[in-house]
Amino acid sequence: MERTKNILTGDRPTGSLHIGHYAGSLENRVKLQDEYKCFFIIADFQVLTDHLSETKRISENIKEIAIDYLSVGINPQKSSIFIQSLIPEITELAMYFSMLVSVPRLQRNPTVKEEMRVAKIGKKELSLGFLSYPVSQAADILSVRASLVPVGQDQLPHMEQTKEIARSFNRFFGETFPVPEALLSNFPRLPGIDGQKMSKSRKNAIYLKDSSVDVARKVMQSYTDPLRIHATDPGHTRGNVVFSYLDAFYQDKKELRELKNKYRKGKIGDVALKKILIETLNIFLEPIRQKRKEFESNPKLIKEILEIGTEEARKEAKQTLSFVKDAMGFNFTRIFK
Ligand code: TRP
Repeated sequence: MERTKNILTGDRPTGSLHIGHYAGSLENRVKLQDEYKCFFIIADFQVLTDHLSETKRISENIKEIAIDYLSVGINPQKSSIFIQSLIPEITELAMYFSMLVSVPRLQRNPTVKEEMRVAKIGKKELSLGFLSYPVSQAADILSVRASLVPVGQDQLPHMEQTKEIARSFNRFFGETFPVPEALLSNFPRLPGIDGQKMSKSRKNAIYLKDSSVDVARKVMQSYTDPLRIHATDPGHTRGNVVFSYLDAFYQDKKELRELKNKYRKGKIGDVALKKILIETLNIFLEPIRQKRKEFESNPKLIKEILEIGTEEARKEAKQTLSFVKDAMGFNFTRIFK
C-alpha cells in the first residue's frame, strides 16, 4: 500500500522513556507505521528551554531515546528517526514562521505558561528561545508537511499554533502546507507509582529499560486504594495505580474484569494483586529488554539508523524549504540565473 500521508511526532531527549510513554504514545506509533510515512523527531533544541545546564548529557540521552524507540518496535525500515538540530532547514523555516506569530499570542500559550511555572522561570527570565519554541515545533511538523501529529493533551496548544502558522503562511504566500491535525491517543497518561503524574523528576516512573528486579520493587511500592486497610476490605479499582497499569497492559480483558470484581469484594489482597502486575509488566517488558540488549551492543547500528533517518527527514525538509522559498519569492532567480 502506498503511504501517502506523513506523520511527525517525537520527544525531547531528557532521559529514558517509561511505560506511560508507551501506553500514551509509543504503542500507537508502532501501529501507525504501516499506514503512514512516519518521522520521529528527537527534539534536542527543546531541551535547551529548561535544561540549559544539562547539555553535557544530550548525546547520551539522544542515544537512549533512539534505543527506546527501536526496542518497542519502531522500525527504521518503515520510519525515520532523526535529530532535530542536524536539520538546518527546520531552523530556517522557524525563521520565516517567526514573522507570522505575534509575541502576545506566544505569551498566551498554556503549555509554555505551565512549563515556566514548573521550571520556576518568571516573565523576566523567560528567554526568547523558550517563548518561541512552539514556532520551532511548528517548523518540525511542517518541515515534512505532516498532516497528522500523534500527541498527548499537553501538546494541543502547540498544535493550535502550528495550524495557525500553516494557515497564515498559505494565506500570505499561497497554498503550501497541509493544516495538520492532532491525533490524541485514546489512552490518557498513566500515573506514577505514587499516583502523581509519571515523570523522571518525581522518581515515580517505571522505565522501559527497568530490570525485573526494579519492576518488582517499584510495583511493591505502588499506591493502591488508600482507604483499604485489610485484604478482606472491599477495595476501589478506580484511581488505583495498580489497576491503571493493569488496564494498559493486562491482555485478557475478561479476566481483568473478574479480577476487579474480586478486588471490590475484598477477595484478593494487594500483595497478590501486585504479583499479578509484576508478572504482567515483565511479560510485556521482556521482549523489549531483549531487543534493547541487541541494540546496546551495536552502537554502530544506532548511529547508522540515526544518520539515515536524519538524511530522509532532511531530504523532505529541503523540498519543503524550496516550496517555501518559491512561494515567498526568496529564490532570487532574477539575480542568480
Ligand atoms: N514538545 C514535544 C514534547 O515535549 C516534543 C516535540 C518536539 C514534538 N517537536 C515536536 C512533538 C513535533 C510533536 C511534534 O514532548
